[in-house]
Amino acid sequence: MIPGLRRALPGVAVFAALAACTFFRARGSAFPDLAPPLAEKGSSCVEDRAFMASSHMALLAGWRDAAVRGNTRRYVALDGRAWEISLEKTCFSCHTRKSAFCDSCHASLLASPSCWECHVIAEAAE
Ligand code: HEC
Ligand code: HEC
Ligand code: HEC
Repeated sequence: MIPGLRRALPGVAVFAALAACTFFRARGSAFPDLAPPLAEKGSSCVEDRAFMASSHMALLAGWRDAAVRGNTRRYVALDGRAWEISLEKTCFSCHTRKSAFCDSCHASLLASPSCWECHVIAEAAE
């Protein structure tokens, strides 16, 4: 062992813990960091991450109303990209692992969207 390292280790651990706290605070998120198994497609989300983290519920409610009541299946994002209004063909074409991504976050926050009573999302095989 490097001389002095044994004595330095607790300090290193404390430093690492503090650095980690700063990191999580810097992310400015009340959400647990679940390291979401994201887009295997490598493209960015419909809206940016902060928007999605805080407002995906409102976005989806708007999508549902647009599709079911307004009969519109096209959503133009803030950056001008157009998306098809579809859980299956849009959201879950990127977030292929619903249980690991959506469900685990909701479970950790005791949220339980009722959507899946009707919308059946086939989980991609691992
Ligand atoms: C083209 C791929 C793609 C599509 C389509 C997509 N996402 Fe995303 N999503 C991502 C990526 C990549 C991220 C990580 C942030 C980023 O880089 O944009 C993300 C981030 C998120 C987050 C934020 C997670 C967090 O807290 O950091 C949520 C929630 C989310 N997406 C939900 C959805 C929903 C709901 C839909 C459908 C309306 C959707 N996504 C459609 C790729 C996608
Ligand atoms: C990083 C955490 C996180 C991820 C990932 C996430 N959600 Fe959420 N979701 C939330 C939170 C927080 C709420 C708000 C719960 C509340 O208000 O009771 C929410 C609420 C919702 C609601 C509204 C529920 C209602 O009853 O009004 C829907 C719909 C929803 N999420 C869909 C999704 C979908 C689909 C995905 C995956 C593509 C996803 N979420 C991923 C955290 C997340
Ligand atoms: C009582 C059953 C039911 C529930 C619960 C439900 N939906 Fe739907 N939803 C439907 C039906 C039926 C359609 C119309 C299907 C079509 O025309 O493509 C639809 C269509 C949609 C669409 C557009 C088409 C698609 O395939 O994605 C979105 C987006 C949507 N719903 C979101 C939601 C969200 C988000 C929730 C939960 C907050 C939810 N729905 C809960 C029955 C339901």
